[in-house]
Amino acid sequence: MKKYSIILVVLLLVSCQRKINEIVIPLNSGWKFITGDNPEYSNPVFNDTEWKLIEVDKIWEEQGYDPYDGFAWFRLKVTIPSKLYKEAFLQDSLRLFLGKINNFDQTFLNGKILGINGKTVVENAILDSSFLKAPINLWDYERRYAISVSDPRILWDEENVIAVRVFDQGGQGGLYTGNQMLSMVNIKEYIAFNNGSNPFIFSNGKISKSFSVNNISKILNLEGRLKIRAVNKVTGEEIYKLENDVTLLPLASQEFKLEFPQIDQSALIKYNYSFKGTNEIYEYKEETPYILTPSEPAGPRINGARITGARPGNPFLFTIPATGERPLTYKAENLPQGLTLDQSTGIITGKVIKKGEYKVNLTATNNQGTDSKSLLIIIGDQLALTPPMGWNSWNCWGLAVDEEKVMMSARAYIDKGLINHGWTYINIDDGWEIPKDKDPKRDGKGNILTNEKFPDMKRLGDSLHAMGLKFGIYSSPGPLTCGGYTASYQYEVNDAKSFAKWGVDYLKYDWCSYDGIAKDTSLSERKKPYFIMRDALAGVDRDIVYSLCQYGMSRVWEWGAEVGGNLWRTTGDITDTWESLSEIGFNQTEIGSFAGPGHWNDPDMLVTGWVGWGPNLHPTRLTPDEQYTHISLWCLLSSPLLIGCDLQRLDPFTINLLTNDEVLAIDQDPLGSQADQVIVEGDLQVWLKQLADGGQAVGIFNLADSTINYPLSLKTAGLPETLKIRDLWRQKDLGTFTGTFETGIPSHGVVLIKVTQ
Ligand code: GLA
Repeated sequence: MKKYSIILVVLLLVSCQRKINEIVIPLNSGWKFITGDNPEYSNPVFNDTEWKLIEVDKIWEEQGYDPYDGFAWFRLKVTIPSKLYKEAFLQDSLRLFLGKINNFDQTFLNGKILGINGKTVVENAILDSSFLKAPINLWDYERRYAISVSDPRILWDEENVIAVRVFDQGGQGGLYTGNQMLSMVNIKEYIAFNNGSNPFIFSNGKISKSFSVNNISKILNLEGRLKIRAVNKVTGEEIYKLENDVTLLPLASQEFKLEFPQIDQSALIKYNYSFKGTNEIYEYKEETPYILTPSEPAGPRINGARITGARPGNPFLFTIPATGERPLTYKAENLPQGLTLDQSTGIITGKVIKKGEYKVNLTATNNQGTDSKSLLIIIGDQLALTPPMGWNSWNCWGLAVDEEKVMMSARAYIDKGLINHGWTYINIDDGWEIPKDKDPKRDGKGNILTNEKFPDMKRLGDSLHAMGLKFGIYSSPGPLTCGGYTASYQYEVNDAKSFAKWGVDYLKYDWCSYDGIAKDTSLSERKKPYFIMRDALAGVDRDIVYSLCQYGMSRVWEWGAEVGGNLWRTTGDITDTWESLSEIGFNQTEIGSFAGPGHWNDPDMLVTGWVGWGPNLHPTRLTPDEQYTHISLWCLLSSPLLIGCDLQRLDPFTINLLTNDEVLAIDQDPLGSQADQVIVEGDLQVWLKQLADGGQAVGIFNLADSTINYPLSLKTAGLPETLKIRDLWRQKDLGTFTGTFETGIPSHGVVLIKVTQ
């Protein structure tokens, strides 16, 4: 009898379960398009019959509008049936999904503003040009606008007009991801797990974090069950589990603390919340950071590049990078005439008049002992004999960079010890110049002015040099930079002179707005502005590393060195997603022969740590394994390493990524050879880089979504049959191997080894 009643209860529960069928109105065809700008275009009665049809799953450049930057409008007519909400489980809000938009948007419904740059707004929101000042990387964010079903902007069962005013800052433009639609807001969208921005804390062999479940609805109660499960990503072993009923009043939240043992792999944590009485489940997963870089020894150790180049007669600056307990005392034997060492800071300065190769013996001493390493100083024509290592403001601060943020980064180099591992440059990207809508942009003599965020560039340059660091800046060959600030067109000589006066050591020279100057897309037009700035730089008495940033157009790797480039971007802008990282990194094939001392392929800056391209930052969306892949691949590729994060917010995991001297030594290897892709087997790739000491660095990458156990055939990789293998991240010898080296590689992760005979 008891048994039957249990079955009955189960049946009742199952039948109460409500399956939610979402009705969706697809909006991916029928859009009309026009370039230019006119407020009338948002008016529902505006006659757009003359406009062209456009597809919304690809950028407008691929549809006959190349090049076109600036304003353009998209319009679509759609009937919104009331059954959409009448048949919905939650009948409160309608959502318009537009996918990603490149770069900025103001979206109107029936002539009334609905959303700006991804935020739903009230009908009388102010429409001014401030939406053009948003972080540029909005091109990578999906637009979802949601309003109440009773909002008068919606015309139920009638024709509605959606109008999207887009502004393309430069490069690709428009609505481009497809899948645009109208639907009702699902109950799942009212729950948020606040964990992405809470850091994991490592202490006493444990890893912990606080985590909260939030009801973001102002009116709904949420009832459901929360499940959390963490497993070792490689072995699948369960290391943590929690199950709890969680009921939340409107806007309420409940906090949990997760704690489990630290493992030497990522743990995969899956969180899910199942809504009572429905089949809806809100899911989220994340992977935990794990630290592989061993802690620094107390004794002195000289790190960084073994070779540096400078031109005769120009100011020289080299800081000996060394770890070990402070105070350290430095010595440099056989310094060329003209150079002096500050024994307490390790900073070498001066000028060398005579060309030549000088083998200097460096020593660092503390009360634990002494370390010696040689440094080859080549006074000649070439700079950047190893890929530049530095920080650039763009991936974190975007156009919101200012002098204080730059100085904070410089101080963090010292305080957090980055300078001890060879990190040298502090580079300001776009945003220091006068914006296009302000005047004057230059003084009476044509010298470029800085905006109020950079009151004194010379002071900034002097401060950086005094700290043993080098100073980088940014400009563009057109009249305006990509961010719409003053650029160098027709003032190249003035600007090179200003840079030299301020003490600039590195110039990133973009392309933006030069499209409007170039006569056509021929190779000579593509090279021209770079020759002009090269000659201007040659006319000043400073060594300025020259970084070309034209996204790889016209196979720049074939002629970047000819126009004087020390490095050149090979791709469009990177962002902090696996799609972007893997698309860029694993496509750097067949161009390796163009890289070498003095001239490097640049697959763009690093996206580890807190990034954001504007004033508001977020932790990188890459998983820890994806970040190990990022650094390992960039080092194998002999890429310039430009940190792109807020150095004030460096956590132990990110410091571990940026301070592994054996890994960085692969990037800084004096041979300067770029890795080749030697094996591709499904989702498994092996990249191999020749090193100056006769060894090779090998990266075994797993691009799949689950762990792969892989037996690397040494022969297939082009290596000798028997080899000694060292794990570079762990800085640990693994032994001697014959024939194969078998290893487990976590999803999106890497095993980075050095092999020697
Ligand atoms: C371009 C470059 C970026 C950055 C911005 C500045 O997009 O590729 O790296 O310099 O310009 O506006």
